[in-house]
Amino acid sequence: MDNWTTSHDRVLAQRHAEGWMFLIEAGRDLGTTGAVAPSGVALARTLTDPVRARAGRPLNILEAGAGTGAVTRSLLPLLSPGSRLDVAEANPRFASRLRQLAAAHPRMGGREERIRIHPRRVEELDTGRHYDVIVSGLPFANFTPHQVETIMDRYLELLHPGGTLTYFAYLGTRQARSLLASRARARRHRAVEDLLTGYHRQYATGCWTVWANLPPAKVWQLTPPASTASRPGHAVAGAAR
Ligand SMILES: C[S@@+](CC[C@H](N)C(=O)[O-])C[C@H]1O[C@@H](n2cnc3c(N)ncnc32)[C@H](O)[C@@H]1O
Repeated sequence: MDNWTTSHDRVLAQRHAEGWMFLIEAGRDLGTTGAVAPSGVALARTLTDPVRARAGRPLNILEAGAGTGAVTRSLLPLLSPGSRLDVAEANPRFASRLRQLAAAHPRMGGREERIRIHPRRVEELDTGRHYDVIVSGLPFANFTPHQVETIMDRYLELLHPGGTLTYFAYLGTRQARSLLASRARARRHRAVEDLLTGYHRQYATGCWTVWANLPPAKVWQLTPPASTASRPGHAVAGAAR
C-alpha cells in the first residue's frame, strides 16, 4: 500500500470517528451541540473566507463553538506567521479532541503556542485580546434571545475596528420548528431570528447560501464600522428579548 493510500485511509477513519463523536455528543445534549454532524468542507471554507481575504497578515482569530474541529481544520493552514487562534468550546470532550487536532496538525510544527483551546463558553472567555476575525459555530436557533444578544454584543466588543464576524444558520429550521416544536419554542426561535435581523440590518456585509452542506446553511458576514466595534452594549433597534 502506498503512502497516499495509507494517509487517505487515516483521514477517512478520523472523519468517521469524528462523525460518531459528534452524534454521541448530540445525543447527550442536542440543545448545546446544535447539530448531529460536523459542518462540511464548503461551509467551513465560506465561514473562514475573511481570514483568506487577509492572507499573509498576522491576525488574531477567535473561533467559538468548534465541535470536532471541522472549521478549525480549515483555519489552521491559514495562520500566517505572527497569527494567533483562540478557540472557545463549551463541551470539554470536544475541547480535548481539538487540542489533539491542533497538536497533530502538520503545519503547526512546534508552534502550538499560537493556538489556545479554551474549554469554556465564549461568554466567559477573557483573553485580553481583540480579534480581526471571529468565526462562530454556535447554535443560535437553540438559544434564548437574551443569550444571543449577550453573545453578539460580546463578539462586537471583541472585534478590532474593521474586524469581521461570520456565523451560520441552517436553512429550514424555523419551518421545522413551527411544525414540530411547541408554540413557546417556535415563538422563541422567531424572536431570535428577529433579533439577528436587527444585527444584519446594521452590520451585514455579506450573506451566502451553502447548498453543499447537510443540511444546507446560510452564512452571514458582519463587519461593524470602526466606531461601533470594541464598544460594548450598543442597542439593536427592534430587538426582541
Ligand atoms: C453546531 S456545533 C458546530 C461545530 C463546528 N463548528 C462545526 O461547524 O462542525 C456547535 C458547537 O458549539 C458549542 N457550543 C455551544 N454553546 C457554546 C458556547 N456558549 N460557547 C462555546 N461553545 C459552545 C457546542 O459544544 C458545539 O461544539
